[in-house]
Amino acid sequence: MKTRTLGQSGIEITAIGLGTNYVGGHNLYENVDEDEGVRLVQRAVDLGVTFIDTADVYGLGRSEELVGKALAGRRDQVVLATKGANRFGAAGSGPSNDPAYLRSALEASLKRLGVDHVDLYYIHRPDETTPPEEAFGALMRFKEEGLIRAAGVSNFSVDQMKAAMKAGPIDALQSRYNLLQREVEADTLAFCAEHGIAFVPWGPLAYGLLGGRYGRDFKLSEKDWRHRSGAFDAGVFERNMDIVDGLRSISESTHVPIAHLATQWLMSRPAVASVITGAKTAAQVEDNVHAARATVSAATIERITALAGG
Ligand SMILES: NC(=O)c1ccc[n+]([C@@H]2O[C@H](COP(=O)([O-])OP(=O)(O)OC[C@H]3O[C@@H](n4cnc5c(N)ncnc54)[C@H](OP(=O)(O)O)[C@@H]3O)[C@@H](O)[C@H]2O)c1
Repeated sequence: MKTRTLGQSGIEITAIGLGTNYVGGHNLYENVDEDEGVRLVQRAVDLGVTFIDTADVYGLGRSEELVGKALAGRRDQVVLATKGANRFGAAGSGPSNDPAYLRSALEASLKRLGVDHVDLYYIHRPDETTPPEEAFGALMRFKEEGLIRAAGVSNFSVDQMKAAMKAGPIDALQSRYNLLQREVEADTLAFCAEHGIAFVPWGPLAYGLLGGRYGRDFKLSEKDWRHRSGAFDAGVFERNMDIVDGLRSISESTHVPIAHLATQWLMSRPAVASVITGAKTAAQVEDNVHAARATVSAATIERITALAGG
């Protein structure tokens, strides 16, 4: 599988990674199957996916526990990334980038994952009070102490990244990006490319919409976190389904499945380092690995871009 370098860390990651917010993600999805969650992580590693993405807040710690269980005995085969900054449980609620809080969050993550370090640690989201350089400075200390090998931020603006970089190099930015939601094209991707920051898009299949399985009558359950993604809002959803229909006709003429077209399109974008598609089953993991190997011409990529507004 193709690999890319994780920012300035020298760490190599596969161009397809695995997102695990479904794995143990009882606070995000209904009817979460924990056994399948463990299986799908193991299937990804079996198939050569080395970049595994989790966060402390997925399942309020449960995702990290299950990812740790799935990787037992195979820790050295993967580049393991997690995130902290969303308080939960006894720590309260809401974001905190306070260095002392980030340290306690990282220590708890290491314990749940059953590891002595993670390869990449992200500040999951900015808070409104901590200066980004102070927050990111904490990650520089974690790196010196060997608790993390690379440092990243998630959902930071360009200005927030500029401030954070006063403390040290950002290896990765994780923010929302898919064919239907392209805000990061305004200035973020170019900034990442200029500064050697690996861009990791979250929601790469637009939470399933770009998997091509949903019809216009699709409704999320009340509990599903994807209500907050914006992609299913009234008005927006209809426009998104128009684009999915356009993608369907490209799929019919190229014989490349819709999900593979959407993945290849992201892989072709500047600064995108690894597409961390979330999966609910081992079969989806297998399909997403195939997506990385699909052959899609430059002309088809251009057609897809034009379809989504150029
Ligand atoms: N940093 C952040 O703030 C942030 C926020 C959100 C997510 N993330 C990370 O990014 C990862 C990816 O985002 P995401 O999981 O929310 O959304 P996503 O990757 O865009 O979509 C995942 C969904 O697409 C469907 N799917 C997966 N593979 C498929 C395939 N081959 N064919 C058809 N459908 C397929 C599945 O849903 P169905 O089977 O139900 O259709 C799956 O749950 C997460 O797992 C998490 O690690 C980070």
